[in-house]
Amino acid sequence: MPIQHVSVGGVKLAVEVEGNGAPLLLVHGFPLDHSMWRGQIGVFAASYRVIAPDLRGFGASDVTPGVVTMAQFSEDLAKLLDALGVNVPVTFCGLSMGGYIGWQFAMCYPHRLSALVACDTRAAADTPEQAAGRRDLAQRVLKQGATIVADAMLPKLFGPDAIAKNAEYVTATRRVMETTDVQGIAGALQGMAERPDVRSWLPQIACPTLSIVGEHDVISPPQEMREWTASIPNARLAVVGDSGHMTPLENPAQFNASLAECLQR
Ligand code: MLT
Repeated sequence: MPIQHVSVGGVKLAVEVEGNGAPLLLVHGFPLDHSMWRGQIGVFAASYRVIAPDLRGFGASDVTPGVVTMAQFSEDLAKLLDALGVNVPVTFCGLSMGGYIGWQFAMCYPHRLSALVACDTRAAADTPEQAAGRRDLAQRVLKQGATIVADAMLPKLFGPDAIAKNAEYVTATRRVMETTDVQGIAGALQGMAERPDVRSWLPQIACPTLSIVGEHDVISPPQEMREWTASIPNARLAVVGDSGHMTPLENPAQFNASLAECLQR
């Protein structure tokens, strides 16, 4: 299905919508776009209404100046669901930055969630050093271009062999990063730098929750995800083999099996 452009509060978001059934919202990571879900959209559209947007500042969506907070992204998604006429609770599946946005969505719109799938993500805030590093990168990317972000991120995103094998998804991911608007990248970097620590709030999540992590994820390592998942009342953790941070791309078969099981419950 072609990409639609939907106006939410004066900003046009690009979104791929496929299939019919209970809604499944797929929220991409940083600095990517909805194409990271290409191994899921067609598969799950056979049974669900799959909604895969490009967030503000990414892909084919509008870019706005300044800091974009995780709360702002979450509000955009709630408005997008309204604009698409989605008036039943959704399964929110977000990867990494998409997961940070998921916490905000769960805090602000708990009644709109039927399940939360938190993939390769973190519940802690940045340390002061990490936040300063992001703010510095935001300034540099505006001057030097998106390639410096691609160079910094790619080695951390994938499992040990992916880059050496030059897997198709590594090349495609670099292309997406390098063509992302620098203002979109800088806005999200600053938004991530100021995101809150949600660990003490996690016990309040009432909906079924699935955490998914790649066994070789170095950005949100399995042990860290295991610790915070244990504090969510109705949650379980699935560890995806042969994968780094980008589980939906690196091991779609195992990722999809875990997501399908969650959706069927
Ligand atoms: C992502 O994949 O969205 C990023 O790794 C998130 C981050 O930089 O914290």
